[in-house]
Amino acid sequence: MEVHNVELVMSAVAPSQYPTTGYPEVALAGRSNVGKSSLINVLINRNSYARTSSQPGKTQTLNFYKVEEQLYFVDVPGYGYAKVSKKDREKWGQMIETYLTSRETLRGVIILVDARHAPTKDDVAMYEWMRYYQMPLLVVATKSDKIPRGKWNKQESLIKKTLNFQPTDDFIAFSAKTKVGKDAVWDWIEAHTVG
Ligand code: GTP
Ligand code: MG
Repeated sequence: MEVHNVELVMSAVAPSQYPTTGYPEVALAGRSNVGKSSLINVLINRNSYARTSSQPGKTQTLNFYKVEEQLYFVDVPGYGYAKVSKKDREKWGQMIETYLTSRETLRGVIILVDARHAPTKDDVAMYEWMRYYQMPLLVVATKSDKIPRGKWNKQESLIKKTLNFQPTDDFIAFSAKTKVGKDAVWDWIEAHTVG
């Protein structure tokens, strides 16, 4: 999709704040600092529209980005940030669970993992959680620019094995720096939000 018009319409913590326009929606989930905001910025051709930071845990609310009066991207706050208290973690879990179970316009979830490493316990738990809700899932291995291309296949195998990846889900290697994988991610989004 050629994107010209993007608007952050809401930073929500509760369903009463979710947008009500009814456009299809794709959520992005992953550990703090994995690159969710960066992926959104690449998809919408902006340098820093979705806030990116080297300080983990910056995104604390569900941020709804409206794209071209057609769909929403929802930037889900990162999980696995050690400095967050147990109570805040529980609040976070509640917020995400409420969102996943109540949002009728949610068409799929993109789970980001770091291409350089085996998925963490938190990554595996997130993947299992999303599978439980029977969401169409795309696993994006991001920061691919940080490993040599010759190692991508090996990393893909490691990531899939660690996640117990199901062949009905999809996988794309991506980099916000080189933009490799951008078109493939858009194809997946369009396939799941059109019609
Ligand atoms: P939270 O909002 O804290 O959950 O983090 P996030 O998942 O939104 O991560 P964000 O996009 O803010 O990126 C975190 C850091 O990783 C930033 O310094 C980015 O510049 C960097 N980064 C993200 N994607 C890539 C990538 O593909 N390649 C490289 N080299 N750096 C990246
Ligand atoms: Mg972010």
